[in-house]
Amino acid sequence: MGDVIEAPSVPRAGTVRPEAGRSAALSVSNVSLVYAGGRGREVVALDRVSLDVSPNEFCVIVGPSGCGKSSLLYLIAGLNEATSGQMAVNGVSVHEPGPDRGMVFQGYTLFPWLTVRQNIEYGPKRQGMSAAERSGIVDRYLAEIGLTQFAEHYPAMLSGGMRQRVAIARALANDPGVLLMDEPFGALDSQTRATMQKLLLRIWEQHKKTVLFVTHDIDEALLLGDRVVVMSARPGRIKAELSIALPRPRSMDLALEPDFIALKRRILDLLRDEIDEEH
Ligand SMILES: Nc1ncnc2c1ncn2[C@@H]1O[C@H](COP(=O)(O)OP(=O)(O)OP(=O)(O)O)[C@@H](O)[C@H]1O
Ligand SMILES: [Mg+2]
Repeated sequence: MGDVIEAPSVPRAGTVRPEAGRSAALSVSNVSLVYAGGRGREVVALDRVSLDVSPNEFCVIVGPSGCGKSSLLYLIAGLNEATSGQMAVNGVSVHEPGPDRGMVFQGYTLFPWLTVRQNIEYGPKRQGMSAAERSGIVDRYLAEIGLTQFAEHYPAMLSGGMRQRVAIARALANDPGVLLMDEPFGALDSQTRATMQKLLLRIWEQHKKTVLFVTHDIDEALLLGDRVVVMSARPGRIKAELSIALPRPRSMDLALEPDFIALKRRILDLLRDEIDEEH
């Protein structure tokens, strides 16, 4: 069963965590983010968030809409700068996007003017890899996502699920240590979503990536995660962490098991408290 570690409701600023971040693949330390809103109104999107993700860990974030999940992933991706606090990937401070982090975001679309092959090889090309090396990488990932036949197609000629598969391949082609995924399957029908979850688990097990994955779907969180981090409503804080000790390989058959149901109920209760408090 999972251990539930409740985060203190008011994080103690300046708390010394000597071990924090040392061996983490991804370390977020006391990060706050304030957006400048219109007419001088500020939005505190994240409030002193600290999170360490271990190498090869599959960490899932859930939380009410607007609690800052996407904001947090954008910061780690280096697409925005925190108001305060630090972030590091494999011990290196994050200030801009880099090939050490692969991104698969719901709205992070493929380049429509490039073919599937060109989309996947975009990163390796920017890294200066030779055409022969690139073509080896692209062929490997095309086979892995089952789209070898579609290499010369343009994104507009693909279904939503196929495009998301290409987006995953494009992120993996850079061989990033960390994969940042923001509701990557949110727009897919349930059958395609199930196929994509299986594909992602297979890739994660094979390539041993560190994954930070945002979802609204608790079943998906429990199917995928080693740990589920629950965030509180705005301003986003870490409310609780549950370690998910369900056996792997996992399938949705697990959803009928008492351990799964107990974890799901626990997460639903934590989320319900947040939504009730907001209203
Ligand atoms: N560029 C921005 N400028 C101002 N406020 C913003 C900006 N981006 C997000 N926000 C605000 O910050 C808060 C957190 O937004 P964010 O998109 O990170 O939430 P989220 O947890 O990803 O929500 P959802 O589950 O709906 O995707 C929200 O109140 C949002 O309105
Ligand atoms: Mg979001």
